[in-house]
Parts: sequence; structure tokens; C-alpha cells
Amino acid sequence: MQIGTPLSSSALRVMLLGAGELGKEVIIELQRFGVEVIAVDRYANAPGHQVAHRAHVIDMTDGQALRQVIEQEKPHIIVPEIEAIATETLLEIEKQGIAEVIPTARATYLTMNREGIRRLVAEELELPTSNYAFAESLNALKMAIDGQIGYPCIVKPVMSSSGKGQSLINSPDEVEAAWNSALHSGRVNQSKVIVEEKIEFDFEITLLTVRYLDAEHNTKTAFCQPIGHVQKSGDYVESWQPQAMTEIALKRSQEIAGKVTENLSGRGIFGVELFVKGDEVWFSEVSPRPHDTGMVTMVSQLQSEFEQHARAILGLPVSTELISPGASAVVYGGLEGEAIVFDGVAEALQIEGTKLRLFGKPESFTYRRMGVVLAKAATVQKSRENAGRAANIVSTSQLNS
Ligand SMILES: Nc1ncnc2c1ncn2[C@@H]1O[C@H](COP(=O)(O)OP(=O)(O)O)[C@@H](O)[C@H]1O
Ligand SMILES: [Mg+2]
Repeated sequence: MQIGTPLSSSALRVMLLGAGELGKEVIIELQRFGVEVIAVDRYANAPGHQVAHRAHVIDMTDGQALRQVIEQEKPHIIVPEIEAIATETLLEIEKQGIAEVIPTARATYLTMNREGIRRLVAEELELPTSNYAFAESLNALKMAIDGQIGYPCIVKPVMSSSGKGQSLINSPDEVEAAWNSALHSGRVNQSKVIVEEKIEFDFEITLLTVRYLDAEHNTKTAFCQPIGHVQKSGDYVESWQPQAMTEIALKRSQEIAGKVTENLSGRGIFGVELFVKGDEVWFSEVSPRPHDTGMVTMVSQLQSEFEQHARAILGLPVSTELISPGASAVVYGGLEGEAIVFDGVAEALQIEGTKLRLFGKPESFTYRRMGVVLAKAATVQKSRENAGRAANIVSTSQLNS
């Protein structure tokens, strides 16, 4: 792959589909290599729009609108940042040789629906997952739980992310509410859910796995150190690297991640989510793109997951070297409104080894992720402590008009 000069006839053009905080960092890394970047999102002034050469606002689940922006911009490479995309259109675009999709159109297609990726991993690759069933009606859901899954279990829309529409249920009288919640908060109005046995794990990890080209142009797979994280209501609030685990569990994790990413194929970074209990490991899900819990790598690794993604996309060598234990802690909006301001930033950054990313989102919600604190320290524990303290010091308000 040849890198040219942006905004000229030799430019290498990359289009990001989704321009949130993760996309923004990928764009910055691509910009550093002199790539011409086009950022697409569903709303104006998204974080990635603010650092790209050009920005577009479209409904990315609308296949026609998606094809139109691709035909207009003629990107060489398309990099999906989110799940909610008309992935059938990406399959066509790839097949017609119009652009290359990272890692592959099939990977984005399979992972946007929990059924696609779960059946592939559990039934085709025969890797360990929680027991699960799919249901298309309340009655079928009840029967699946009574017949094979049991309590406690977790009900999720097949198409959703960030914990939306998920319920942990403990008894039969909670099934109906879980069904309704999944039905109404799924991304697409689809009446299908997955119900999973609740795994009583010791901890959960994201195993960042990168597929890149070596000097001989062969695809290589490399693993970052495991990232531990805490999820509240299905959304990540804190992460750290490395997560300590047994040698056997680490080996099993790498085997699972290796097999899943090999099947999905292509180049780029993958966030493989796994549950760990002692030496036992279960596959949970995978993002064929940078992972939110992986923001910690901006302080803990020589190359962040965003730089790794950019390098892998461009066919360049990648390093997974850890340089320090580190942690990340989310800064929430804390209020609803536009044009919010952040206080306590200088004070938070007095804490040694901390950095702050404010994403620049135009609108805040109470639980919207507006920023993240990154901290590195001599130990994981110290970095978690410092990241958490700094995130608590940052507060939000609105200017009196
Ligand atoms: N089968 C399960 N057993 C235990 N915890 C689970 C299970 N499924 C999900 N969770 C918890 O909920 C979180 C979000 O679930 P996940 O399937 O990753 O949804 P999302 O796609 O919204 O991230 C997980 O990170 C984990 O903490
Ligand atoms: Mg997840």
C-alpha cells in the first residue's frame, strides 16, 4: 500500500464509518501518516469530524445513503468504528472491489448481530461460551429459560451495544419485563433476543488482538497484555492493563482470540471479550475494531490500540509492547444539555502520571461518556486509584446564558 499526499491526486483516502472518541483517535493516528481521512457519523460535529479532512452526516444504517457517500468520496479503505451500519452494503462494496473494508465486510456483518458471531464461535469453531438460546417471542423465551438456560440469566437484544436493552434476571416473574426491554431498546426493531446463562466469572478481560503484515507480507497475529475492566449496566466505567491471570488462562484466552480472529480474517485490531474463572475461559463477544476498554493503551503501551489499528490498516509493522501498568476511568456528562464546560481539569491533572481526553461531544447526557482519564503508575492498583481520583475531580456545568 502506498501512502501519498493528502488532498492531492496521490492521496491515500480512508473513510471512518463512525466518528466517536475511538474513531477520533484512529483518525489522528492516520493523519500522522499523511492519510486523507473522511469521517462519517449520524450527527454533526462528532469527535472524529473535528479532526478529519472532511465530515459527512448520514444515517449509516441506510444502505443507499452509505453507498452514495462512498461513491462520492471514493475511499480506498473503509474503517467501521461502530456496529450500527448497513453491513450488507459493505459486503457489496467489498465484492465490487470499490473499497477495502477493515478488517473484512464479513467480520462487520457477523459481529453486528449477536446471533452471527455466537453461532460461529460456539457451533462452528466449537469454542467455550455461556449456554445460550435465541427467542422470537415471550413464550419461546420462557421455554428456553425453563428448558435449558435456568436462572440467573441475561436477556439481550440481538442487535445492541453498550448494554442497551440488557437485563439480568433471577426469577420467572422478571422474564416479561426483560423481553419488553430488549424489544424496545434494540438498535433495529427486531423481535429477537439472546438469553445467556450468567457466568460467575472472577473477572472479565478484553484481549486486544492485532492482525498485521510482517516483512514478508504474511498476516501475523499478536496479542496485547490482557485488559481488565469493570462494567456497570453493560457499559465500561474503568479499565486497566495488565490484568493478572494464570498462565493457563492466558494461553486459553490467546487460543480463543487467535481462532476467532483468524476466522474473521483481514487486518486490524480486534477487542476479544472473555470471562475468566481460575484457569477457565469463556468467549463473550468480539469487536473487529478498537475497543473502548482499550483506551488505557494510550498510556500503557508503546503503540496504543489506535496506532496499532492505523499501522495494521496501512500494512505497517506493529508492536504490542507494554511500557507501564496503566488504567482508564470514564468522565460522564453528569447533566443533560449542550455546550457544557469542564471544571477541575487542572486539579485532576496535578495527580502524577495522569492524562485527560475530552472528546468534544456537542451534547451531554447524564451517563454519556464525555471524556476519559488515563493514568500510569508503578502498579495497576496505583494507576487505578489515580485514574479514579482524577476522574472524580473533573466536573461539568453549563454557563449561565
Ligand atoms: N453471560 C454472561 N454472564 C455474565 N456476565 C455477562 C454475560 N453477558 C454479559 N455480561 C456482562 O454484561 C456486559 C455487557 O455484555 P456484552 O455482551 O458485552 O454486551 P455489549 O455488546 O452491550 O457490550 C459484559 O461485559 C459482562 O460484564
Ligand atoms: Mg461488550
